[in-house]
Amino acid sequence: MLNELLNPALFRHDTAFDDLYPEHIQELSQMHWTPVDIAKKAGDFLSIPNTSVLDIGSGVGKFCITAGFFHPETFFCGIEQREELYTFAEIAKAEIELPNVNFIHGNLTELDFKNYDHFYFYNPFYENIEPDSRIDYTVRTSFELYELYSRFVFQMLEEKPPETRLVTFHAPDTQVPPGYQLVNNSYSRVLKMWIKK
Ligand SMILES: C[S@@+](CC[C@H](N)C(=O)[O-])C[C@H]1O[C@@H](n2cnc3c(N)ncnc32)[C@H](O)[C@@H]1O
Repeated sequence: MLNELLNPALFRHDTAFDDLYPEHIQELSQMHWTPVDIAKKAGDFLSIPNTSVLDIGSGVGKFCITAGFFHPETFFCGIEQREELYTFAEIAKAEIELPNVNFIHGNLTELDFKNYDHFYFYNPFYENIEPDSRIDYTVRTSFELYELYSRFVFQMLEEKPPETRLVTFHAPDTQVPPGYQLVNNSYSRVLKMWIKK
């Protein structure tokens, strides 16, 4: 794969990948962005050729870019509410030239989920209930928003057809509808892979 020949070192270590971003974004990486090895594993599970995967709360795009790089036959999209993070995701994507990766700036509640087949999320709503985990102060957070977003995603996942795949990272199982069967539980049980029955 041409891409792999051009960019192999980028995906070996988090520090190499995080160099795509300015320092203040790199400093957030350990707590807020998916590590490269997790993104690879999640991407392997979610990548079914000619389907679309959505990262719910895509930050600076680390999951979509890594998974998209290794799976050019699958389309990866991320939606991110913070404009600055969305912009850095676009800049990183442009550097690697990934035609199968797309980012949207907006709130997930505005998205038409019918356009996506499989889903990934890294505990995106936690900062609403844990102030110490805030990324910054550019968006409103509240317990009410935590409930609203969790319910929204739950209902969306519930409406999806059998065989829908989902990966959750550090996310509570209560955000996953009962119709989803846990098929893999690794990394001290923080990386979970699900398939709707
Ligand atoms: C823990 S970060 C994960 C980022 C990325 N998925 C990754 O794994 O590298 C969660 C992201 O979700 C975003 N987010 C939270 N609620 C959102 C919402 N309602 N709509 C869009 N983005 C949201 C946050 O701004 C944050 O960037």
